[in-house]
Amino acid sequence: MAGKNEVKTYGLAARDTSGVFSPVEFARRATGEEDVRFKVLYCGICHADLHSAKDDFGHTSYPVVPGHEIVGEVTEVGSKVTNFKIGDKVGVGCFVGSCRSCEQCSNDLEPYCPKRVMTYGSIDEDGTRTRGGYSNEMVVKEHFAIRWPENLPLDGGAPLLCAGCTLYSPLMYYGLSKPGTHLGIVGLGGLGHVGVKFAKAMGLKVTVISSSNRKKAEAVDRLGADSFLVSTDPEQMQTAMGTLDGIIDTVSAFHPVMPLISLLKPHGKLIVVGAPNKPLEVEIIPLLTGRKMIGSSAAAGIKETQEMIDFAAKHNITADVEVIPANYVNKAMEGLEKGDVRYRFVIDIGNTLVAAPST
Ligand SMILES: NC(=O)c1ccc[n+]([C@@H]2O[C@H](COP(=O)([O-])OP(=O)(O)OC[C@H]3O[C@@H](n4cnc5c(N)ncnc54)[C@H](OP(=O)(O)O)[C@@H]3O)[C@@H](O)[C@H]2O)c1
Ligand SMILES: [Zn+2]
Ligand SMILES: [Zn+2]
Repeated sequence: MAGKNEVKTYGLAARDTSGVFSPVEFARRATGEEDVRFKVLYCGICHADLHSAKDDFGHTSYPVVPGHEIVGEVTEVGSKVTNFKIGDKVGVGCFVGSCRSCEQCSNDLEPYCPKRVMTYGSIDEDGTRTRGGYSNEMVVKEHFAIRWPENLPLDGGAPLLCAGCTLYSPLMYYGLSKPGTHLGIVGLGGLGHVGVKFAKAMGLKVTVISSSNRKKAEAVDRLGADSFLVSTDPEQMQTAMGTLDGIIDTVSAFHPVMPLISLLKPHGKLIVVGAPNKPLEVEIIPLLTGRKMIGSSAAAGIKETQEMIDFAAKHNITADVEVIPANYVNKAMEGLEKGDVRYRFVIDIGNTLVAAPST
């Protein structure tokens, strides 16, 4: 319930490991000097939301209100806010806080700040638990809000705030963004499909590596991938050995990575951004004989998120989305778990989320 100076908010919460969502009411802080308050319009459903709702990593604190692919419209700004005014469109991704003074923060690398505050499931500076975009409104420090480009659709653009960042940032950081680089993308889901779009816009040659041939036509004909490999087909994998400069692995579950390592050229890089809840198995000899490396990456800093969103607007990149009403979230989660989504569910919060009937 809302206390003094707090604002009553409503949303959808998972309450136990069944991951089933139901309406919830909670309080958000009043708008502080550096805060931007906004009405949530759209929120993407990231696989991380599903991991969290089902407590796949054993650290969910229930009830959890997920959502870190959030777009909305500013309704109030604090007295010290300079970049936003009422009526502006705004985005929020995976982070809503960090210490703003450590080495990582000084280098615009908020995801790697030891005191980072995730958009949901973290403890905020005021001691409250953060709650994400499956809710009618948000209040965040201006620093963590992204200016929304005029021509970028709100629904198709929302997933870029996590999925877009998570592919864009490692391409830049690991030196895989040079035109002509041959990149593999493993897993054609929410992350993977926007990865293909960013990589093509950067001029890369892209091979999609998928667990079946079901998505082949879409990957090549519609998303623009140059080639397609089925990871469970040893013949196809054998033929492609030693051909890739880098791989971004977005798979959400345990899977063998050594066959991926053999697809890399010497000095190739396997960047695992998917978050399986079981350890992956790595042999060192195939790495050392090719001086190959395995790396990882978490979303993107705020400055780079803005850069990614502006890049997307310039190149007309959006996610392929299925826009759903708020009361379809449980069905959407089932679809996501089965891989039955093309390619991101986005909740139409603005038009369909309603407060729970009061009891
Ligand atoms: N590093 C970060 O900052 C970050 C940010 C966001 C999300 N994540 C994590 O990234 C992962 C993917 O997220 P997402 O939203 O893109 O999920 P998603 O839409 O469910 O896509 C995951 C894809 O992985 C493939 N896959 C699933 N299970 C598999 C299995 N058992 N074996 C082989 N392939 C399998 C499927 O692609 P195919 O059908 O093509 O095989 C699926 O479409 C999640 O673990 C999420 O938590 C990490
Ligand atoms: Zn995410
Ligand atoms: Zn810091």
